[in-house]
This record gives sequence, C-alpha cells and structure tokens, in this order.
Amino acid sequence: RLRGVVALDGPSGTGKSTVSRKLASALGASYLDTGAMYRAVTLAVLRAQVGPSDEAEVVRVVCGVELTMGTDPERPSVLLDGEDVGQEIRGPEVTAAVSAVSAVAAVRELLVAHQRELIGRALAEPGGIVVEGRDIGTVVVPDAGLKVYLTASAEARAQRRTAQDISEGRAGDLDRTHADVQRRDALDSGRTVAPLRKADDALELDTTDLDVAGVLEQLHKHVESRG
Ligand code: C5P
Repeated sequence: RLRGVVALDGPSGTGKSTVSRKLASALGASYLDTGAMYRAVTLAVLRAQVGPSDEAEVVRVVCGVELTMGTDPERPSVLLDGEDVGQEIRGPEVTAAVSAVSAVAAVRELLVAHQRELIGRALAEPGGIVVEGRDIGTVVVPDAGLKVYLTASAEARAQRRTAQDISEGRAGDLDRTHADVQRRDALDSGRTVAPLRKADDALELDTTDLDVAGVLEQLHKHVESRG
C-alpha cells in the first residue's frame, strides 16, 4: 500500500516544494508539505510568547493546537485552529525559530503521527500521495515506493529562496538567505532526533544545474521505472 507514496526529502532551496506539487498534480496524487506543519506549530509557539528552546512549554502549546492540512496539490492549505496561516508561516520570524521547535522529540512524535494519519487517508483514494520534508524516507514512511533526496549547492539554494521570497512579495536578501540556509542545514542535520539525511535506498538528485522541468523529467522517469 505504501508503494503509493513518493517521499521527497532534502534541505531548503532545492526546489522541493515546487517539484513536489507539480509531480503530485501530474500524477493525480495528494500532496503533503510536512515543513508547513512544523512551521505552523512554530507560529503557535511564537504567538504564545514561548521561547522555542523552552521544551516543556513548546510541547504544551503544540499539544493544544489543531492543525488542518489541505492536501490538494493545486491549492495546499494550512489551518491553525481554523485560521489560514499559509502566508504567515513563510515569514522571517517563523523561519528563524522552526529548526529549534522541530528538534523537540515530542513535537516530532505528534506531527509524525498526524502525518501518517493523513498519508493513510490519502492512500485510501486512487492516485497516492507525494510527501515532502526532511525525514519522510528515513522515519515517516520508510517503506515508500519511491524515495528521492534532492540536493543543490548552498549558493543555488540561497538564490532560489531569495527569488521565491521576492516573487511572493517578501523582502529578498541574498546574503541573509544564504546565512539562513546554512544555519538551518546545520541545525536540521545535526539534531539528535530524525536528522536530515538521505535514506540508504533513496535516489539522490543534484538540482544545482537543473530547472524545474529538468527535475520533473527525472522524477517522472523514476516513477515510471518503479512500475
Ligand atoms: O521545508 P521547510 O523549509 O518549510 O521546512 C521548515 C523547517 O521545518 C525545516 O528547516 C526543518 O527544521 C523542519 N522540518 C523537519 N522535518 C520535516 C519537514 C520540515 O524538521 N519533515
């Protein structure tokens, strides 16, 4: 049954979100952005004026919120206690705090359980699901039918993130984004629980010199060869 899952992992700025959504659309699959879930609970933590490193308080806040994820790749959505927070979770405050919140083991347990439930629900429908994150192939769905690990040089990733910020109406600052990308990579790869890493059986795809169409072409080939 889990063969219907495509797991896409990798650091930020590899084009993961764009290609995951487009792949899901083309396959008639659902789409789950797990980063949006970590971002939404981080927003709740910040709104509660809890320091992201105060683990007990972080867990208390996260246990008390309701996350509703829309899994249509044409219009994915994130509701926090019924409020659409899709824009706010991309802002600099959440981006600065999300790695600390997502390093808390109890937060991950709660969100991984929720992710598995959403994946199970999607698999009851035809089409399967494309799931993107950091630990999908290693922890959330180790039996996924296809696992891809996207990489790209830090420069390329900072450039993409900056272009994305500008196109979505946020301030774009290449140096700041470059520093942020490297800081989050170090935190996400260095944490004890579910660190960012390629699953042994994941296919690695370096997107530094590929555009979106080029990455999608590779992904479609692998989806087809998976049978
Ligand atoms: O993918 P995105 O950049 O939105 O993810 C934001 C943050 O959420 C990551 O930097 C990471 O700290 C955390 N995350 C995670 N596990 C996932 C997805 C995201 O820890 N599966």
